[in-house]
Amino acid sequence: MSAPIAGGITRVGVVGGGQMGVGIAEVAARAGCEVTLVEISAAAADQARDRISTSLDRGVRRGKLDASAAAATRSRIAVVDELAALADRQLVVEAVVEQKQAKIDVIQRLAELVENPDAILASNTSSIPIVELGAAVGGRAANVLGLHFFNPVPVLSLVEIIPSLLTSDAVTERARAFVVDVLGKDPITAPDRAGFTVNALLIPYLLSAIRMLEQGLASAKDIDDGMVKGCAHPMGPLALSDLIGLDTVLGVAETLYAEQREQLFAPPALLQRLVAAGRLGRNVGMGLYDYA
Ligand code: 3HC
Repeated sequence: MSAPIAGGITRVGVVGGGQMGVGIAEVAARAGCEVTLVEISAAAADQARDRISTSLDRGVRRGKLDASAAAATRSRIAVVDELAALADRQLVVEAVVEQKQAKIDVIQRLAELVENPDAILASNTSSIPIVELGAAVGGRAANVLGLHFFNPVPVLSLVEIIPSLLTSDAVTERARAFVVDVLGKDPITAPDRAGFTVNALLIPYLLSAIRMLEQGLASAKDIDDGMVKGCAHPMGPLALSDLIGLDTVLGVAETLYAEQREQLFAPPALLQRLVAAGRLGRNVGMGLYDYA
């Protein structure tokens, strides 16, 4: 029998097998947790498995873990297409599409089916107020909080911990112990306002870069080179928008704008048109840039 994991959490669930969900599943499994990842269909589950393998292979190539650790990590992640498989979980992180109603639906279903009354129900939302997710599950609101990871999850150490007005202190502290002692990540406590801390600062910057491009003031290459070479950012704002996903950038901007009504959060038309055209970013091979 393996040693108990700090915070008492060994059985983790993740809902959504996109790049964030897969990354969260990977880091939890690498830390020794037994992870169940739920996707919406068998085909989507296959894609999630492929994403996990791709990331682990990359980790091996980059010397971050050896082949046996990668195999052990893979064996600790079950990818399924049925939410009911999460009934015995101690912590579930939802990482579905950045739409309020979709997240509320998932949290409500989790509140119905996760059996352990102490289980933590976390959201990886980029911007939706956690209190709205908590309020949607009535009696279990004290167990709902935000755990916001950063992309690529295996690489970036930050996790924003976002308790809502309804989250209990004990749940927040158990979640923090899990993030620090189990995952080995570096948390900050963020306020439960749209965008929390990081996206409230990052999104206006990304939108400004898209606006600069839209207005023909500078080329995409010059905008990105400017920030990489002049400010030592690992990538420019347009490349980063494509990495995050333009649909996610748009969703976060809309939430921020709805709450703050400040022009700096208003999504530029170019961003809206690219999303409408299906140019969603690096994941689909085209966004602000082409990746084919
Ligand atoms: N597992 C473990 N480590 C990995 C890995 C993996 N699958 N893939 C890469 N790495 C490691 C590499 O070993 C390397 O580490 P080292 O510097 O110690 O050797 C490091 O990650 C960089 O990897 P690469 O050299 O392969 O790639 P690049 O140097 O091109 O970096 C990048 C790629 C990590 C994406 C980098 O450009 C970066 O950090 N960009 C900024 C990303 C960012 O800002 N993310 C936040 C987005 S906002 C967000 O997510 C919130 C949401 O709500 C919107």
